Amino acid sequence: MDLVKRIKCSGLDLKFFLMAENFENYFTHAKQIAKLAGDILLNSYRSFHDSSDQNSKQLAIETKESNDANIVTIIDKQIQDFIIDYIKRTFPRHSFIGEESTENILLGNEPTWIIDPIDGTTNFVHGFPYCCVSIGLVIKRNPSIGVIYNPILGQMYSACEGLGAFLNDERLGKSPKAIAPLSQSIVGLEFGNERTDSVLNPKLETFANFIKAPVRAIRCYGSAAMNLCMIASGALDIYLEAGIHCWDIAAGVVIVR
Ligand code: IPD
Repeated sequence: MDLVKRIKCSGLDLKFFLMAENFENYFTHAKQIAKLAGDILLNSYRSFHDSSDQNSKQLAIETKESNDANIVTIIDKQIQDFIIDYIKRTFPRHSFIGEESTENILLGNEPTWIIDPIDGTTNFVHGFPYCCVSIGLVIKRNPSIGVIYNPILGQMYSACEGLGAFLNDERLGKSPKAIAPLSQSIVGLEFGNERTDSVLNPKLETFANFIKAPVRAIRCYGSAAMNLCMIASGALDIYLEAGIHCWDIAAGVVIVR
């Protein structure tokens, strides 16, 4: 039974009924936005990686803060513009935070869309198929809706508070996995893009401790959002990353929860 019907049946007041209706409406739009944005991602990925004249001009790759490990492409910007335009037209009173426009980040009580147009930009550029559109909706400062769409693998993970989490149309978490001991765990780790000793050395030490524990295996997918989807689907037991941003995880935390 969906959230609106459940609340109707339980006789809760109109305020809750309207809230549930809004949530379902936002959820439908979030999936629609992710699908359309994912189409842009997929077309660009295919035309870049399938064509014989690959060159960085097509993607207009730029480094952020002169760091070769931190890049953005013209497609990140196009997708973010598309998503923000859709949200502004559909929900003019909502706010948004996007990875490619990080001035004046403020989180208030109004519904706020937190967007990573391409999570896993490096993967996108290198043809490693773990990149996705990640869209989270935070309501009254609570991450309430999350959609992560990897169009290359044809996987849309989604979740809405009160409705549950899904991989495409399949409900996730029907039979949650028992927590495995470290020695039988597969662990997702990310190095991030910061290479200074003060940031990198403690991470390397922590990662070494994991492998020596020993854990069964380590994986690095290069996308925080995809790592969280792997946790939600039970493929990873642990995911660890330091120095993450809100747009990397806003959608994923709802899906995991
Ligand atoms: C990056 C990815 C990566 C993580 C970085 C993020 P981006 O996001 O999620 O896995 O290690 O910290 O910045 O730049 O590809 O959107």
